[in-house]
Amino acid sequence: MTTRRRFTLTQYLIEQRRRFPGASGDFNSLVLEVALACKAIARSVALGELGNVLSHFGEDEVSTAVNIQGEEQKRLDVISNAYFTEMTEWSGNLAGMASEEMDHPYQIPAPHPRGNYLLVFDPLDGSSNLDVNVTVGSIFSILRAPQDVIDSGRDVVESDFFQPGAQQMAAGYALYGPSTMLVLTVGNGVAGFTLDPNLGQFMLTHPNIQVPPDTQEFAINASNSRFWEPPVKRYVDECLAGKTGPRGKDFNMRWIASMVAEAHRILMRGGVFMYPRDTKDPSKPGRLRLLYEANPVGFIIEQAGGRASTGREPVLGVQPTALHQRIGLVFGSKNEVERIERYHREPVAYKDDNPLFSERSLFRD
Ligand code: AHG
Ligand code: MN
Ligand code: MN
Repeated sequence: MTTRRRFTLTQYLIEQRRRFPGASGDFNSLVLEVALACKAIARSVALGELGNVLSHFGEDEVSTAVNIQGEEQKRLDVISNAYFTEMTEWSGNLAGMASEEMDHPYQIPAPHPRGNYLLVFDPLDGSSNLDVNVTVGSIFSILRAPQDVIDSGRDVVESDFFQPGAQQMAAGYALYGPSTMLVLTVGNGVAGFTLDPNLGQFMLTHPNIQVPPDTQEFAINASNSRFWEPPVKRYVDECLAGKTGPRGKDFNMRWIASMVAEAHRILMRGGVFMYPRDTKDPSKPGRLRLLYEANPVGFIIEQAGGRASTGREPVLGVQPTALHQRIGLVFGSKNEVERIERYHREPVAYKDDNPLFSERSLFRD
């Protein structure tokens, strides 16, 4: 029996670097440090209840129990954040970092040298699913630091991170599911790697991932339906109407509540994910965060031939204005996302009081 010879993540990165003969190797080394952090997180996640890391902090340990977004942190959110910073801060590749779990930018501590890149991450996405042993993941984005940061080695400030998603150098996520995977783009398509736990290596198992342009599957948290804007209501109602409605075909629905797992499903077999802007809390224009959720996932999806949008414009074109900024997000199979964008451009075509729709709307208030 012959075993199939597979590329490792390291080999993949070296192949990719050959496109840039002048590259120093710092970028590749940074991606490998991030991959190591993800392996360490995978190990903690896999221990589950045995690791004593799933719970929230106790009342006697109030120091870091709530992040800047007012969300309660679990131990594993904080541990995962520490793996990211500790595995990457020493190498001289980074000028600074930002994370969901850190209120302000993270400065590379002396005596470590500072480098050319910014690392932005959600150390654990979907952490409400930890208690129930459902797939979670880590999401990351690599940006080039502004030139004056590189030249001066000064501390980073929030505005150094305010770069549209189209400027990302790389983006990826790790998935801690039945198998651990790393899915990565360095701006030349999307590749998926599966962790071989015996070798401790991510092996290339999914080269050149492509999102199918059409789908009959959508993902949205329907408990928010009374807060949706009319274009989103119209889209979902039409999906629910199935064969008998204007789409003329039946749809299926999924909601995992781990965006990273939904993104992976969509990369594997198509689909559309929506966490759109809604009217639930006017102070929050959407649920997901632009810099470390929407932008990296958007970059990956677009590199795989899909589309990522706010509903109104490509998410990768949005100019960030705050580190923890939230945004409406719609991504997945290109033709569906374009349809949803079209519905946003012509909202008059669908009104709540339109009798045609009110009769068959299952989500009416
Ligand atoms: P996080 O665990 O990093 O705070 O992110 C959770 C996000 C995302 O993964 C998921 O799609 C969404 O929150 C789930 O929101 P609901 O609880 O509204 O379903
Ligand atoms: Mn998240
Ligand atoms: Mn998180």
